[in-house]
Amino acid sequence: MRSELSVDHLLGIKYLQQEDIELIFKTADHFKEVINRPIKKVPSLRDITIANLFFENSTRTRLSFELAEKRLSADVINFSAASSSVKKGETLIDTVNNILSMKVDMVVMRHPNPGAGIFLSRHVNASIINAGDGAHEHPTQALLDSYSIREKLGDVRRKKVVIVGDILHSRVALSNIFALKLQGAEVKVCGPKTLLPKHIESLGVKVEPNLKKALEWCDVANMLRVQNERMDISYFPSTREYVKQFGLNKKLLDSLNKEIVIMHPGPINRGVEITSDVADSEHAIILDQVQNGVAVRMAVIYLLASKIKQ
Ligand code: CP
Repeated sequence: MRSELSVDHLLGIKYLQQEDIELIFKTADHFKEVINRPIKKVPSLRDITIANLFFENSTRTRLSFELAEKRLSADVINFSAASSSVKKGETLIDTVNNILSMKVDMVVMRHPNPGAGIFLSRHVNASIINAGDGAHEHPTQALLDSYSIREKLGDVRRKKVVIVGDILHSRVALSNIFALKLQGAEVKVCGPKTLLPKHIESLGVKVEPNLKKALEWCDVANMLRVQNERMDISYFPSTREYVKQFGLNKKLLDSLNKEIVIMHPGPINRGVEITSDVADSEHAIILDQVQNGVAVRMAVIYLLASKIKQ
């Protein structure tokens, strides 16, 4: 196994190799053990400063990155666009260069524009981690999702995973497809035709329009949120119609002749893509995903920081 990542930034799963994912998971195994100790902190990144730049709302990703950075003993600064001089017209490059002039080594950025992290990596001198860029990629979410499947089922290779819902607007779907395919999983997508990108099968996934058939086929169902905030037109007749065809409820889950693992990246629209009795059931690993997010992000930050230090 390799001892360092093949990349200097984490901009998307698209730029990773299978060996990178194996290295991240092996490193995350170590950090998962660390964060379960009474003293949950290691001094590894005492000389590193990280800026978390969030130009879009977040709960899980922002808190998870901040906790991961603090567990590694990095110095951390937080920036939220809503309360910044971005509101006065400052550009992305100017904002970031001002922050970097305070001797920042690494930037974790969430931005509504696809490719914002790639753009930044070409213009500033710091290691960039993409914490979600529009409907493009959310690489650490896909890594923590695969890590959680590996933890629950032993391996990702040859597992059958269905991604259900709003694939069109989902950075989680795209990053998951890249990550799962790289690790040798079989992937299907299921959702309203209007919410499936036209050429989705060119990514090596199959379309299954019937939710019950998709669930009968899979080992894991990843239920995505309907991203109303990214919809400028109506993609389905009504929420009621969506729930009827693509919502997962306990009755449907109990009707399957097998047990499956239920995932959701959060935030959940309870009663839309998934009912509360499913989200809170023993089949769901939603909170395990959140917990694993800290260890996986510690691994990503640690591995990228070791390349800065060289
Ligand atoms: N899963 C996820 O990215 O959640 P947040 O938008 O709350 O960060």
